[in-house]
Amino acid sequence: LHSTLEEAKRIAAYRAVDENLIPVQHRLIGVGSGSTVIYVAERLGQYLLDPKFSILASQFVCIPTGFQSKELILTNGLTLGSIDQYPSIDIVFDGADEVDSDLQLIKGGGGCLFQEKLVSTSAAKFVVVADYRKRSPKYLGTNWVKGVPIEVVPSAYVRVLSDLRIRLKCKQAVLRQGAPAKAGPVVTDNCNFIIDAHFGEIEDPAKLHAQIKMLVGVVETGLFINNAARAYFGNPDGSVDVLG
Ligand code: A5P
Repeated sequence: LHSTLEEAKRIAAYRAVDENLIPVQHRLIGVGSGSTVIYVAERLGQYLLDPKFSILASQFVCIPTGFQSKELILTNGLTLGSIDQYPSIDIVFDGADEVDSDLQLIKGGGGCLFQEKLVSTSAAKFVVVADYRKRSPKYLGTNWVKGVPIEVVPSAYVRVLSDLRIRLKCKQAVLRQGAPAKAGPVVTDNCNFIIDAHFGEIEDPAKLHAQIKMLVGVVETGLFINNAARAYFGNPDGSVDVLG
């Protein structure tokens, strides 16, 4: 039996796929990371089994945004492709940690932000799937209180921590730890580290993204600017809100 939260994720994902995916037009499909995208992959797998769609759906090639995403594609019987094989793709469905009213996002709670950004900025359309908790009343940094995830080259993490605090006046910046599952830092799918940087409410996410990105050692930030086209939020009462 699904909990209300799981059901909210599922209805958002199913609705997003059903409303945005045009099987003839969309063949190269990005599948993001996290717990909501599980239902995107499930829905795409159902298209394969549905006699109405199966011939078209058998043409789908799914591009992952990390290890978990690759597993989701394979376990749902979908065809796996890679972003270097298909550098421009038709559509991507991905989760988010927070979405503001301008469709700016914080992502990277699951540590997959670099590949998520690579895939989402390579897609003609980026559709966000989320539950009601992810919708920010106004600014980013209101609901998502774990900070902005930043992927950094391991040898530069001390320098980036210091630059964030001193040059960017970050309130708090911490190296993400793997404990209790692992002693020591989280290592990303790209063998880098993650810093979570707290800036409070973010009034100008584009400016903050650009400032962080300039620091030596930063690979990518979890601020996704002018990237998402539409967001679907599943609610506890079974309804779905659409933004964009
Ligand atoms: C992964 O790095 C994240 O960007 C996820 O997309 C994000 O954390 C959303 O995950 P959930 O769907 O589990 O909330």
